[in-house]
Amino acid sequence: MRPYGVPCTFALSIATALLLAATTDGIEIRHTDNNAENIAARRRASNENISPDENNKQFWYDAGNNLLRKKLNLERQYGVAKNVIFFIGDGMSIATLTSARIYMGQTKNNTGSEKEMLSFEKFPFTGLSKTYCVDSQVADSACSATAYLTGVKGNIETIGVSGTVTNRDCMASNEPANQAVSSMRWAQRAGKRTGVVSNMRVTHATPAGAYANVAQRDWECDNDVFIDELADKSCRTQPDIARQLIERETGRNLNVIMGGGRAKFFPNTDKDQQNLKGQRRDGRDLIKEWLEIDRTSGASSAYVTDRSQLKSMNTSETDYLLGLFASSHMSYNLLANKTQEPTLVEMTEAAIEVLSKGDAGYYLFVEGGLIDWAHHSNMAQLALDEAVMLSKAVGRAAELTSREDTLIVVTSDHSHTMSINGYPHRGSDILGHPKIAVTDNMPYSTLSYANGPSYKARYNLSDDKTDEPEYQFPSMLNLTWETHGGDDVAVFASGPWAHLFVGNYEQNYIPHAISYAARMGPGAEIERKHEADSSSEKIFVSSSLAAFMTLVALLLR
Ligand SMILES: *[C@@H]1O[C@H](CO)[C@@H](O)[C@H](O)[C@H]1NC(C)=O
Ligand SMILES: *[C@@H]1O[C@H](CO)[C@@H](O)[C@H](O)[C@H]1NC(C)=O
Ligand SMILES: *[C@@H]1O[C@H](CO)[C@@H](O)[C@H](O)[C@H]1NC(C)=O
Ligand SMILES: *[C@@H]1O[C@H](CO)[C@@H](O)[C@H](O)[C@H]1NC(C)=O
Ligand SMILES: *[C@@H]1O[C@H](CO)[C@@H](O)[C@H](O)[C@H]1NC(C)=O
Repeated sequence: MRPYGVPCTFALSIATALLLAATTDGIEIRHTDNNAENIAARRRASNENISPDENNKQFWYDAGNNLLRKKLNLERQYGVAKNVIFFIGDGMSIATLTSARIYMGQTKNNTGSEKEMLSFEKFPFTGLSKTYCVDSQVADSACSATAYLTGVKGNIETIGVSGTVTNRDCMASNEPANQAVSSMRWAQRAGKRTGVVSNMRVTHATPAGAYANVAQRDWECDNDVFIDELADKSCRTQPDIARQLIERETGRNLNVIMGGGRAKFFPNTDKDQQNLKGQRRDGRDLIKEWLEIDRTSGASSAYVTDRSQLKSMNTSETDYLLGLFASSHMSYNLLANKTQEPTLVEMTEAAIEVLSKGDAGYYLFVEGGLIDWAHHSNMAQLALDEAVMLSKAVGRAAELTSREDTLIVVTSDHSHTMSINGYPHRGSDILGHPKIAVTDNMPYSTLSYANGPSYKARYNLSDDKTDEPEYQFPSMLNLTWETHGGDDVAVFASGPWAHLFVGNYEQNYIPHAISYAARMGPGAEIERKHEADSSSEKIFVSSSLAAFMTLVALLLR
């Protein structure tokens, strides 16, 4: 803030003088490469990595005009979204999106990777959501899940309950008046099939937002409540998140549940197929209980535990699918044993297949949760790779569905502290350290974190292998676990009423817009707009309704 290290008042007059006398010097001296050698090097490096077209004015005019023409032809879509697929990239900040698209291009050895687009970045409508919670400027995944899955903002660490319920107040969380109804339930009441997919434990905060009402996100199984020293003893008898998944209406009625977290579902005296122990103290086997739920009209249920079982399953014969592919969280895509665990893309595909069976459509929620997990460890490459996986899952979902009847919304629950910094030349390795700081002559990486476990005093990272998957990018503050960021996150939408997601709004608005688009839950009560512009399916519905009314009128005469 104080150029040339002089006192503030002085600085101002010097700056003014410089602006008058030697404008460019005054500004450019702040840049690290304002000398002939650096300028030439930047030019050389960039020219190797960009198309020469970029040097022409006309190239940019054409690009701008082509996009403008495309946008002028873009039509808003009305009608009713029969299906909704809602993707959350956990912790997928805007800096994550930018660096993930560059990373994606660079892993394909493309030049000009800065121009890449993730699948959902091509969606027609984009907005920003404000993620703060009732008692916290920066959100955690629990209160944010409450906002974007129930339409109500609550307190940090709580799930599916209003701001009346403070962290660990289990009594208040059991009051129906304090519970927020999940948008999954809205869909179920509207006759839709519903599903939840995550690569985290299915009882972790984000997926739990789809079915649980709990005063503390860590209470995933009864043992978690038992070992929580801050929990009142009376909370031990309240249903934990895993129990809520198979006992409460919303969870029981989910057609698809896929992810990790087996240990939360069976007794600590038993072991799973990988010889890993369960965590439950109450002796209950919730997986067995889930299989024995009395389903109506002979519906079929299937439980799968690895990729080959999922692959060999006949999805068109399955009405209820429980897939628990890991004892705890599933593995990072770059490190996973691919024969054991399905990818996020494969889980999304299987979920769509199972859900598509119903006539009234479906509502699927998918979380790419490992983006967040990697950021917390300052492992930027893993975070970017997981964001690319989410992009692939969204791309596959878009291929398997139609824009005419399926609303796809992609967003994040909160941001992270990773930044993309310096003035790296075009084509610089996004995982690299292309710039040298003038202050100490040592290089610094393009990606770094404001805080986290990788913290150490400034050092020469020239010989670090920054392209190794588990490399921890520099952190500026020593914390055992990198924190979330409080900046807004992007929302991308495609399909009926996707334009409702344009603008800057509170995160809890998202399910309200979904409910209007899909005509389920509270949004179904709101007057329909643009009936006349509706898709053919909608017109068909209203004309058959008119015919029905005529018939009723005739019968009543
Ligand atoms: C990109 O280039 C690297 C280094 O030459 C090579 O190892 C890698 O296989 C290439 N990747 C693709 C997708 O072509
Ligand atoms: C799956 O089940 C359906 C309905 O029973 C059957 O028609 C189809 O052949 C089965 N597909 C496979 C691959 O077994
Ligand atoms: C991957 O998992 C399979 C099945 O559990 C196992 O047979 C194989 O040894 C594992 N591979 C590695 C590299 O760990
Ligand atoms: C940093 O390390 C590299 C590689 O070991 C070395 O070439 C360079 O001189 C070092 N820079 C400083 C300022 O010590
Ligand atoms: C960071 O904090 C941890 C925990 O207090 C400590 O063990 C570690 O030495 C610290 N790291 C640095 C570089 O100060």
